[in-house]
Amino acid sequence: MYCKLPLLTALAACITSVVSEDLGFPLFAYGKVAKSGLRLSYADGLAYIGGFPSFAKEAVNITLSLAEGDDKFVAKGNSTGTAPSLSSKPTMYVDVTEGASNPVGFTTDNETLPSGATAVGFGLYGGWVFHKQQNSSLEMKFIATPTNETGIFLVKWNAAATKASDDIAISLRTQVPVALYE
Ligand SMILES: *[C@@H]1O[C@H](CO)[C@@H](O)[C@H](O)[C@H]1NC(C)=O
Ligand SMILES: *[C@@H]1O[C@H](CO)[C@@H](O)[C@H](O)[C@H]1NC(C)=O
Ligand SMILES: *[C@@H]1O[C@H](CO)[C@@H](O)[C@H](O)[C@H]1NC(C)=O
Ligand SMILES: *[C@@H]1O[C@H](CO)[C@@H](O)[C@H](O)[C@H]1NC(C)=O
Ligand SMILES: *[C@@H]1O[C@H](CO)[C@@H](O)[C@H](O)[C@H]1NC(C)=O
Repeated sequence: MYCKLPLLTALAACITSVVSEDLGFPLFAYGKVAKSGLRLSYADGLAYIGGFPSFAKEAVNITLSLAEGDDKFVAKGNSTGTAPSLSSKPTMYVDVTEGASNPVGFTTDNETLPSGATAVGFGLYGGWVFHKQQNSSLEMKFIATPTNETGIFLVKWNAAATKASDDIAISLRTQVPVALYE
């Protein structure tokens, strides 16, 4: 998905959406992956939806915070969570290399990002996660790729013009699925 919105509009949306900074907000994936949104989780440094992959050493539901005056998404785990690597406050990254379709992950500032990846340029536009590179439009290019475990998907950033046949376009939103209220 491609949104051509003026930068100032986007910035205004970012500022107004920084509401619950301490607790952060959960993200849910919407699209043709499930009837309602699937919670974004963290497993061994990568983003998944649909549950925790059993092959992961660390897997936990996360909330994210948009660091004040910044355009980074900081991941936080539940304090009772079993992901010690989250204590270093990793930030989300996407690989923006042209033609790439690589996993969305989390890294600490002191660690080197994968080649072609960037941890800056994130924001919320009306509750929808976007990434924006300098001088370009807002982009929402998240896709879900099935893992080898039923119902669990790896979240990727699709910088490529095409996607593989089993990839599903998703949007990441702060919107809590209606089903969770029931
Ligand atoms: C993770 O989040 C999902 C969706 O909100 C929930 O069903 C599940 O119980 C949570 N898991 C843990 C361990 O908190
Ligand atoms: C942490 O997990 C507990 C138990 O699943 C839950 O009651 C609590 O709301 C969670 N806190 C956050 C900040 O997600
Ligand atoms: C990065 O910083 C965290 C927290 O200070 C530390 O636990 C981790 O070992 C550091 N990683 C590297 C590669 O230096
Ligand atoms: C972005 O645009 C500004 C003004 O047109 C220009 O000075 C700057 O070099 C551009 N940056 C990139 C990365 O293209
Ligand atoms: C499933 O995929 C993960 C990650 O690629 C891998 O580590 C694991 O061995 C795979 N499990 C099976 C049963 O193929």
